[in-house]
Amino acid sequence: MSGILSDLSRDALSALAQVTDEAGLAGWHREMLGRKGSLTEALKGLAELDADARRARGRELNALKQELEVAFESRQAAIQSELLDSRLLAESIDVSLPGRKPAVGSLHPITSMIREVSEIFAHLGFQTVEGPEVELAEYSFDMLNIPKDHPARDVWDTIFIDTDQVEITLRPHTSPMQVRTMLQQEPPVRVVVPGRTYRYEAQDATHEWHFHQIEGLAIDRAITMTDLKGTLAEFARQMFGAERKVRFRCDFFPFVEPGVDMSIDCPFCGGRGCRTCKNSGWIELLGAGMVHPNVLANVGYDADAYTGWAFGMGVERLVMLKYNVQDIRQFYGNDLRYSVAVRPGTALTLFLRTIDCGGGVARRSLEE
Ligand code: PHE
Repeated sequence: MSGILSDLSRDALSALAQVTDEAGLAGWHREMLGRKGSLTEALKGLAELDADARRARGRELNALKQELEVAFESRQAAIQSELLDSRLLAESIDVSLPGRKPAVGSLHPITSMIREVSEIFAHLGFQTVEGPEVELAEYSFDMLNIPKDHPARDVWDTIFIDTDQVEITLRPHTSPMQVRTMLQQEPPVRVVVPGRTYRYEAQDATHEWHFHQIEGLAIDRAITMTDLKGTLAEFARQMFGAERKVRFRCDFFPFVEPGVDMSIDCPFCGGRGCRTCKNSGWIELLGAGMVHPNVLANVGYDADAYTGWAFGMGVERLVMLKYNVQDIRQFYGNDLRYSVAVRPGTALTLFLRTIDCGGGVARRSLEE
């Protein structure tokens, strides 16, 4: 092979060795073997040679062309198999990797607390029932011994529905379910009623315009204040620890007589006084009392034969106390991290506790 051709061959082969991808291959092919490529240029020079020299040079050029084509094909095959290898590597699935955890979600602390309270009362013989959130003012107030235009109504900053015919409220407490329950069944009655409640209220760290309550009602022959105290003290101890002390003080609610509020000694400081209990050593938990004879009469119960007691407590407040939540607005902030923001140690029990009270309690709706 003449000097120029062997230079051409050497340069072409070393350039081919540098090529690493399909685009490079195509470029090389164009430059060397294409219509305007080096080899074609060399072929053009044949015309100027005499017959013998042309034949000899022609053979050489053909040999070179073949050599380059073979080299091209083998480089192309090598590059394609490299590309395939690296693709296979990138797309491979490592079956030994641990699986991805599906996001299964968890119970909202309010749901969890409602179940916990219902369960405690289920063991004390109480059924869980639910009722409407949009409620006749008759049940929210009148039947509960709070007549129209009576100043006691002002205690509940009620949201009213705009209607001309009957007065309708977003229930400001779960107490109307006392009325509905008693209208539907004869004594003995033992129910707890969890549910949403609404008040026209400015929001801050301890107030929400909508929140949850759990109502309790027990009616039977010869039920006394002792039953009320014993049952609620037992509840407080199951919820906040066996060592809890309870304190009852006089309070006023139109639908009970006498009325009380119940406090527990502060679970955070054991009653010595801290920020949470505002240094009083006590934390108010709920309102309660003996069902007013007027209410018994309103639902058609014989107030001489039957007595009973009722209580109402805020669910958010229970969760805030038990799990040290500082701001009530977090409950409805839609922040999914909220489930872990509740103190980690306790949050675990809170969220893993999904035992349904369904086994012990018939849950039925008293909606009309
Ligand atoms: N319904 C009352 C409230 O919302 C609480 C309560 C219920 C008090 C039952 C006594 C008896 O404030």
